[in-house]
Amino acid sequence: MAAVGSAVGLGNIWRFPYTCGKYGGGAFLIVYLCFVFLLGSTLMISEFVIGRRTQHTPVKAFQSLHPKKAWGLVGLLGLITSFFILSQYLVLSGWTTNYVWDSLTGRLAALGTDSGTISNYFSQFSTSAGRPVVFLVVFSVICLAIIMCGVQKGIENVSKVLMPLLVLIVLVLCVRSLTLPGASKGLEYLFLPDFSKLSGEGVLAALGQALFSLSVGMGVMIVYGSYMPLNDNIFKTAMWITACDTLIAVLAGVAIFPAVFSCGFDPAGGPGLVFCVLPNVFNSMGGAGVVFSTLFFLLLVVAAMTSAISLLEALTAALHEHSIINRQVSAVVFFLLTTAFGILFALSVGPLSNITFGHAHLTLFDFVDRLNSIYLPPICSLITIIFFGWVMPEADVRDELSNHGTLKIGYYSVFRFLARYLAPLALLVVLVAGILG
Ligand code: TRP
Repeated sequence: MAAVGSAVGLGNIWRFPYTCGKYGGGAFLIVYLCFVFLLGSTLMISEFVIGRRTQHTPVKAFQSLHPKKAWGLVGLLGLITSFFILSQYLVLSGWTTNYVWDSLTGRLAALGTDSGTISNYFSQFSTSAGRPVVFLVVFSVICLAIIMCGVQKGIENVSKVLMPLLVLIVLVLCVRSLTLPGASKGLEYLFLPDFSKLSGEGVLAALGQALFSLSVGMGVMIVYGSYMPLNDNIFKTAMWITACDTLIAVLAGVAIFPAVFSCGFDPAGGPGLVFCVLPNVFNSMGGAGVVFSTLFFLLLVVAAMTSAISLLEALTAALHEHSIINRQVSAVVFFLLTTAFGILFALSVGPLSNITFGHAHLTLFDFVDRLNSIYLPPICSLITIIFFGWVMPEADVRDELSNHGTLKIGYYSVFRFLARYLAPLALLVVLVAGILG
């Protein structure tokens, strides 16, 4: 359940719809599903196995399985990825927190159902210097307070109740969205694949989204694996997490796309998509809209918090294992650092948007978004899976998957094939093709 909490977050509800919309809808969805079930789940199982086998955080985990210490660099790369993901995550969490406030104060409701007005509101808000930073800090401070009070376990229990509630609201949103005029166009967009819309970059983006959403390719699941009870079935657990995570992403798509078309938004509208479309759906619900909207964004903040805290957990556990710095101090240090980077990324959407990178003129925010999805996690995943399939002793893998021979592992030969051949090959092809454009 903790790993589901870590996997389900803004990646499902914010990132999936906007990425799917940007890269062509149905065709993207199919490629995404293939990546999730063939590569994502294989990677998750590998990370769990490495973590539980070694009982270490990423760097030491790799080092303890092979005499060449250089393998530890994969773990380090994963941790660096986690650091940047957390920094970027704080920006989005800040936006979401701001939307809770705006729902509560009636500001969102006052925008009505005109898509232009709502889009303007979002772009004015996200490009300003004030509120994105203030709410980012509010979010960070709450996370820090939770950690300082040592109630992470508490938030896990709370989220066991609140996450199903979030799914329930998404279902309500689906119903509302599907009953808007012209909703069927959105369903067609999401479920009828048009492969001519799919680009090489889209395939790479689907891979990146699959890894990001499952929280794999950055060593976090190695840390989680090391906490996993010894009698848990790794295969079953990984499949559950994968299925839940995917279901929630697809539901978010069903809630968003019909409304996108019905209200006249552009599905390729980018990172603001959810923040523009959902207020429109809520405002079309009449008086109940304010309640739903406040509740929805509040639950999304909780989902973001469970993910942010678990990202922080991986960083903290790693620093703690490699130094004498205690957990509380290292949590505070990482939170301050990621908050500082987060503020920089938040400002790069607006006041600092003139600072750009590369020939595509990416803002710092877009640059980090790419780094966090299509570059770092696939590279990290590739090395991890090569290590897992070709370097780590196979007897260890079998032993760990079968809980020392007590579980049947009928899936093993298929899994081994995926881990040794299909996954590394597919990762390599997608990475090279994607980077070369
Ligand atoms: N999977 C999370 C989401 O969908 C985001 C994420 C990526 C994450 N890597 C992580 C969360 C590591 C926790 C730990 O929102």
